[in-house]
Amino acid sequence: MKNQDKKLSGSYYSYRPHKTVHFMEQYLAKENKRYNSVLEPSAGDGRFVDKLSFGKDMQNFVAIELMEEKVEQLNSKKYPAYVKIIQDDFLDFARKTNEKYQLIIGNPPYISIKNMENSSIEKGRDICEKYNLPLSLMKNIWVAFVLASVFCLESQGVIFFVLPMEFLQVQYAEKIRL
Ligand SMILES: C[S@@+](CC[C@H](N)C(=O)[O-])C[C@H]1O[C@@H](n2cnc3c(N)ncnc32)[C@H](O)[C@@H]1O
Repeated sequence: MKNQDKKLSGSYYSYRPHKTVHFMEQYLAKENKRYNSVLEPSAGDGRFVDKLSFGKDMQNFVAIELMEEKVEQLNSKKYPAYVKIIQDDFLDFARKTNEKYQLIIGNPPYISIKNMENSSIEKGRDICEKYNLPLSLMKNIWVAFVLASVFCLESQGVIFFVLPMEFLQVQYAEKIRL
């Protein structure tokens, strides 16, 4: 994928995917909790779905992806029947769905506000408003993904995302962390 396309779709894949996804899988295994409803909001080529959807307690694994060609690729894989691949904008999906998930996991897109479409900026700002957060928080689409994921989370649920270091470091992200 060309650099400009990456910037617009936010497709910075989990590099060394085996290492990153394996680390996350092992981390969850050590916690020894059972998750049977899981959401991957930006599934890409399905590296999280491939690795995580075959747990013996799994009942519902929903993978969202915006881009048609990636959804076609995902649909061509042989996943168990409880894996649902949905083509949608996750920011729309999160507003429409009533389903709640125990685990929301993945590597959200990173698109700076400079490169985001106006409609995505609006959706992100709407979500900030719902949480009474300043609209200025919407500096990158990953922020909207984190907040929209909270809508879809069970009350004791877990969000486990690959995020940029700024999530831990910069002052504006403190409100998101809370
Ligand atoms: C960083 S990639 C991550 C893919 C995969 N989770 C991984 O780590 O390999 C981000 C993915 O998000 C998708 N995407 C971008 N905007 C989206 C949106 N609004 N809703 C759902 N998927 C989106 C892109 O097409 C891309 O496949």
